[in-house]
Amino acid sequence: MTRLLSVHSVDDPALREAASILAAGGLVAFPTETVYGLGADGLNPEAVARIYAAKGRPATNPVILHVDSIASARALVSQWPDTAQLLTERFWPGPLTLILPASEQVPAIVRAGGPTVALRCPAHRVAQALIKAVGRPLAAPSANRSQHLSPTLAEHVASSLGEAVDLILDGGPTEAGLESTILDLSVARPRILRPGPVAPAELAALLGALDLWEGAVRPGESQTAPGMAERHYAPRARLELVAPGSGLAPGSGRVAYVAFGHLPVLPDSIRGILLPLDAEAVGTRLFALLHELDDAGFERVVMERPPAGEAWMAVRDRLRRASAKEPT
Ligand code: TXA
Ligand code: MG
Repeated sequence: MTRLLSVHSVDDPALREAASILAAGGLVAFPTETVYGLGADGLNPEAVARIYAAKGRPATNPVILHVDSIASARALVSQWPDTAQLLTERFWPGPLTLILPASEQVPAIVRAGGPTVALRCPAHRVAQALIKAVGRPLAAPSANRSQHLSPTLAEHVASSLGEAVDLILDGGPTEAGLESTILDLSVARPRILRPGPVAPAELAALLGALDLWEGAVRPGESQTAPGMAERHYAPRARLELVAPGSGLAPGSGRVAYVAFGHLPVLPDSIRGILLPLDAEAVGTRLFALLHELDDAGFERVVMERPPAGEAWMAVRDRLRRASAKEPT
């Protein structure tokens, strides 16, 4: 059985044990304010290679380095533009990941051979305490098998990765429930690569001009840019998105229907689930709900398209990817 230890405080002995596993090149899953991460010593290429093996992650997909301060981030980049200083002073620690030109310190495997590195300073006190205890940046993708749902509970990590992890630190449910906003600062005009808890308007307020990547591949850009695979964050159940109020006729198999704000009348054979018209609350709950429906054996989940508008961007992004067809 995978070992799962609850962490109650920042001086919990479980944290010391986790730090020594990491320092020795092992893998430890830990809570952040977004989702659980699968951590390894980010400056040890063999340790990072174990992350890729455990997740079944393609070598072309780089990982984020988690740091405990702006000063530690600066040692990992070859350029620190004024925008990086402004943004990190405002949003760190917190759910914002910045892409910057990497320094020579960053192993190639972390960058997937590319010239840039992704940096994030998590706000969760367990994540902070762990990075400080190891004294090195932690490479940490979401602690799930590649292309599966991200974990918002320690139990999700255990069922997705099992024996591949040396230790799971249990800090209870994560707060945001969706992965960090990723902002690319290595290009001339800052660009959001993944919408998340930090909204575009909050970034634009500091940066002015900003590009959004909403899934469309632009002319001259490769479809295989890091992390931009269309199918991602997917449950085992088949997920379909429909217009609000569509409802559903009775069918075969176990089917759930998920609505926002108002649940239409449904046949008795279909489980109706009502989510609030509150993007933040839905973000917190979304992956946990899909995990629950999978665990309960639902084969098909029909979900109303979430509302338009910027507040719902991260939820729309995850649902679009979760409902995308399997890559062929
Ligand atoms: O909230 C989060 O960001 C969580 C927690 C654990 O911190 N981590 C997370 O990591 O979501 P992961 O690996 O599941 O997603 C990171 C995304 C991937 O899509 C990856 O392709 C992209 O960040 N990424 C990493 N390094 C990059 C780089 N140098 N350039 C562009 N994208 C990068
Ligand atoms: Mg992930």
